[in-house]
Formats: sequence, structure tokens, C-alpha cells
Amino acid sequence: MGFAALGEDYPWDSMVPFRARASEHPDGLIDLSIGTPVDPTPAVVQQALQQASNAPGYPLTAGSPALRDAIAAWFDRRRGVPHLTDENVLPTIGSKEAVGLMPSLLGLGTEDVVVHPAVAYPTYRVGALLSGATALATDDVAQWAGDPNVKVVWINSPSNPTGAVLDVPQLRMIVAAAREIGAVVISDECYAELDWRAENSTVPSVLDPAVTEGDLSNLLVAYSLSKQSSVAGYRAAFIAGDADLISRLTALRKHLGMIVPAPVQAAMTAALDDDEHVAVQRAIYQYRRTVLLDAIMAAGMKVDHSQAGLYLWARHPEHRAGCWETITWLADRGIVAGPGEFYGPQGAAHVRLALTAADTDIAAAARRLAH
Ligand SMILES: Cc1ncc(COP(=O)(O)O)c(C=O)c1O
Repeated sequence: MGFAALGEDYPWDSMVPFRARASEHPDGLIDLSIGTPVDPTPAVVQQALQQASNAPGYPLTAGSPALRDAIAAWFDRRRGVPHLTDENVLPTIGSKEAVGLMPSLLGLGTEDVVVHPAVAYPTYRVGALLSGATALATDDVAQWAGDPNVKVVWINSPSNPTGAVLDVPQLRMIVAAAREIGAVVISDECYAELDWRAENSTVPSVLDPAVTEGDLSNLLVAYSLSKQSSVAGYRAAFIAGDADLISRLTALRKHLGMIVPAPVQAAMTAALDDDEHVAVQRAIYQYRRTVLLDAIMAAGMKVDHSQAGLYLWARHPEHRAGCWETITWLADRGIVAGPGEFYGPQGAAHVRLALTAADTDIAAAARRLAH
């Protein structure tokens, strides 16, 4: 049953008329709907890719020793997660494939349930259906606690699309409930470096010792360099956590040939070793966020959550019909946003505005909203 559901239309196709409407704006369309990075890949990363371009042999599925060391060191330095070793990490070809394939690679099937956030990145659900499992969209732990059919619990902090952040007590509660039933908790943390709450605040990782109490069993993190390093085109990401799970996933990915290309592994190593370009990129997004946030609030919109990550999760209180009314209102200003409904019924009042547009486009969007 699940697999048939994958034949559903791709939801973004329904945006075609709104894109057409926005294109009619005399100064053209401004696309704030899709979170694809637009800034150049930092030189330090491009150079590493170029220098590794002679790659006649097969790369290691498990990742080069240098890359695995860089991932472990990054977790220690940037995420407050010490003591990871080579056995706790595994590069993936971007994180979308890792997210989508995870339930299948973990051996889930028709009896099983995958929990994901109520308003969520759609790939959690797609991956559950691909494996034959059922997807349960909820933020309420009580809805699945004690259910032995629940095998995977996805969390996503900071969230796409809402920008909400889970704190340590919330993470502990989810992990404790999952441990009681032997479920694997997988935390998609790909926006962790984009925390807007305070200058030095950090989004906690599910692998933080304050959450794990030193026990990594049944815990995994998915992380991506796409956004923090503007390398969505490289397909550069990794998972980390429970060494047994990593070993099983590595073995299966070897059989499937799911290998990160050697030049990309070298580029990832350089990106992970260099915190400076991430700080620069973060400042760029912070500036765009301030301009857009001020403009949409001045235009009468309300912003919810949005404490971190690459999006503003906004609604117009006068638009009683929900997100499509707001999408139309924005299209009349030449702006394309993402309908909250694409992320689940609970998102139906909101639109998602991405910060991944050039400064000039963000400034133009702000001007159009002011009129
Ligand atoms: C929550 C979340 N997870 C995973 C991804 C996938 O990123 P990538 O495949 O570029 O690593 C995205 C991309 O937008 C995302 O928003």
C-alpha cells in the first residue's frame, strides 16, 4: 500500500499557476520557495575538490580516514559531542538519500511504524512508505510511547519548515520513550549551525552527552554540508552515532554502491576543517533574515518559531482561507513562497519563506511587501 502512495503527484507541481502569476510582476519573479543555496561554494572547498580530481580507484564507502577524523573532530568542536571514532561516522551522498532510504536499510517492513514531526520535511514519510512501513506524523510522544511497532523516530531540530528547536529535556524525553520500545531515534540536524536565538547559542545534538548519558545505542544524527557550506551541488553529508547501526548501514551501502565520490570526500574534509567560511555564510543568512523578517512583519504577517534554520514560518492573520490565500497574495507581489500544507495538514495556515535568495532579491522582496 505504501509504495503506491509514492505515485502521488509531486506537490510542487501545483505551484505552477502561482509561479506564472508571480512572473507577471513588472520586475519579475522572486523565488523564496525552495531552499537551494545561491552563494558561491567557498574557495577552500572548491580547491580541495579540484586537488582531488585525479581519482581512478574506488573510494571507501565508509569514508576516507581523513574524512572520518574530520567528522568526529567537527562533532567535538561544533556540536558538543566528544569521543566519536571512525566507527561512529559514515558519509552519505547528500542527506536526502540517507533520510529516504533509512527505514529500508534498517530493515523496516509492513508491520512497522515510522514517527516523524507533525509538520515535516516530506522525505521522512516517503522513506517510511518506501520500506512498506506506516508513517505517523506527530509531535506528541504519548501517541507512540509504549507501541512496540514503532521502529524509527525522526526528529528534526532546527525544523524544516518551522525553525523550531528542541531543547535537551525534550530530546531526553523522546530518547527515553524510544529506548523503552527499542526504537531508533534519528535526528536530522542539518540546520544546526544556523541558530538565531542568541550570538553563541547552540542547537543541542541528540548525541550530546546531556541527552545520551554516554550511551549512543539506537541513536543516529544526519547532517548535511549543503547549507552551511553552500555545497548542495556536491551532495555532501554524513550520519553518525551508534557504531553497530553505522556498521550495518555501511555494509549495506557497500553492496549498493552508495559511495560518496573521492573528490567530494576531500572537499567535505576541507569544509569540516574550516569553521571560518561557515561563520561567513551564517552572517549572510542572518542579514537576509533580518531584512525579510522586518518586511513581512511590517506587512502584517506573523512569524512562528523560526528560531533557527533557513526559513521563516509565517502566516497572514487576515487570510482566513490559509496558506493558499497567502501564496496568492505573495504571488501578486511577484514573490513565490512554499505552502505550509506541503509539510502536513497542521501547516495549512502558514507559508515557508526561504533565506536562500541573493541579497538583491531579498531587498526587492522587502520593498514589494512595503507597498
Ligand atoms: C530537513 C532536511 N533534511 C535533509 C535535507 C536534504 O539535504 P541534502 O540532501 O542537500 O543534504 C533537507 C534539504 O532541504 C532538509 O531540509
